[in-house]
Amino acid sequence: MANGARWASALVFLLSALTSRAAAPHLEKQGTAERLIVQGKPMLVLGGELGNSSASSTAYMAPHWSRLRQMHLNTVITPVYWELIEPTEGHFNWDSVDAMIKAARANDLRLVLLWFGAWKNSMSTYAPAWVKRDQTRFPRAKLPSGRSVDILSAFVPATRDADTHAYVALLNHIRTIDSDKNTVVMIQVENEIGMLPVARDYGPEAERAFHEPVPKVLSGDKRAGDWTAVFGTTGDAAAESFTAWHYALYVEALVTAGKAAYPLPMYVNTALNHTGRAPGEYPSGGPLPHLFEIWKAGAPSLDLLAPDIYFPNFVELASRYKRPDNQLFIPEANDADKPEVPANAFYAFGQLDAIGFGPFSIESIDEKQPNPLSKAYDVLEQLSPAILASQGLGRMAGFRPRVLEDGTVIETPVTQTLGDYRFTVTFIDPWTPRADQKITTHGGLIIQTGPEDFWVAGQGITVTVEPASSEGPPSAGLDSVWEGTFDAKGNWVPGRLLNGDQTHQGRHVRLAPGDFQIQRVKLYRYR
Ligand code: DGJ
Repeated sequence: MANGARWASALVFLLSALTSRAAAPHLEKQGTAERLIVQGKPMLVLGGELGNSSASSTAYMAPHWSRLRQMHLNTVITPVYWELIEPTEGHFNWDSVDAMIKAARANDLRLVLLWFGAWKNSMSTYAPAWVKRDQTRFPRAKLPSGRSVDILSAFVPATRDADTHAYVALLNHIRTIDSDKNTVVMIQVENEIGMLPVARDYGPEAERAFHEPVPKVLSGDKRAGDWTAVFGTTGDAAAESFTAWHYALYVEALVTAGKAAYPLPMYVNTALNHTGRAPGEYPSGGPLPHLFEIWKAGAPSLDLLAPDIYFPNFVELASRYKRPDNQLFIPEANDADKPEVPANAFYAFGQLDAIGFGPFSIESIDEKQPNPLSKAYDVLEQLSPAILASQGLGRMAGFRPRVLEDGTVIETPVTQTLGDYRFTVTFIDPWTPRADQKITTHGGLIIQTGPEDFWVAGQGITVTVEPASSEGPPSAGLDSVWEGTFDAKGNWVPGRLLNGDQTHQGRHVRLAPGDFQIQRVKLYRYR
């Protein structure tokens, strides 16, 4: 090739690389939130995560893709298995990945990929056999007795490098086949990282590291010394902090190398801990709320830390992952068939500006049963433009009854102010016998679109309104309440004008239990 031609082709390559980078899905700030931008447009991930083994068989998955789209999902959260893509070291087989991307595209779905690499739920069962069987090159983590657990040690560069090599190969492959269409919108790095059944690894590499000085970014200027000197000798704080730091460093290596190949948003997910349990009883050192600072310092290139929420105290746990330095994305929002899941979705999007929501084992929902999640996602899909336009701007609120970790349901109404109006949302429906109500399934959201204009959506909630301040006319009333839906083009199609008994003669807005719906509400003030 002549020199000129060589330069020209290098330039074309560079330009196409730059263009594809600019177009890669990414997070972008709006007010206090960050939104996921895909192909230049904000996207709300109405997702669901597949059961662990489902994506290993194209045939098994074949009937599910279209069903998931019919359930109004726009995204499937699906594993990619290290053992399947690199069965022999350095030789990659992309069949499983390509088949998923093809099926997702055919069904108008996007994908979040879960990298089941060195760790899946602490354990290392998705590592290929050539890794599992070579315990000299890839040693396991050790118990204090010296016995191994089935967990690859995070302290061994060879393990990190092999994992990174496969992860980067995956990102390169996705960039090659998908940077134009962006079917893949995010990647989870590993799955529910954390050490079990003790708070840290006791292998020789880990022992050495445990006695090294704690990095300044964690110890600050005042405290110095090794992990017990800085974090104390009582309990497992030193061991767990140490574990968190080294898992974070390991993940950071994957993320920086992966992003250099293809800069998709990347996150880690968390196995949460029950109150009072010790690290090791739960996966020690994962990206838990009490270890946030360590994870943020150790893995600054991660876009977010995500909770998997299977406990009843959804409001409290989800809220802990919505911080100025962390956006909420819930890849595992309980099992998909749990009745409170739809109300949790409304809360996550309405109250916490969630980027996405994904109940687990989504394909196992019985298609023959009535499916409230599908109805909830239908409503959320219709409202997506309004939700996305409001994220981070203080114009939206979400509601569901709080439930404590022990299952106690807090029935008290919740009050929130939007613009000039204060809304009180009651979860016990006034017109349905109490015994017929399961109020943990009740919930909704309110979006302000103008000084007096609001979308109210959900089910099992009754909303009363009053002026937010003492200035101006002292009372608030319902100017009009319309039920309705958005058509496929996003136009509002009104149904009945609700008044009389349906608004208790103007006293409240009611979204009856049982059916997720949208109402368009106009308010006014009177004296
Ligand atoms: C959490 C894990 O992250 C998932 O992969 C799956 O194992 C679920 N637990 C099962 O409840």
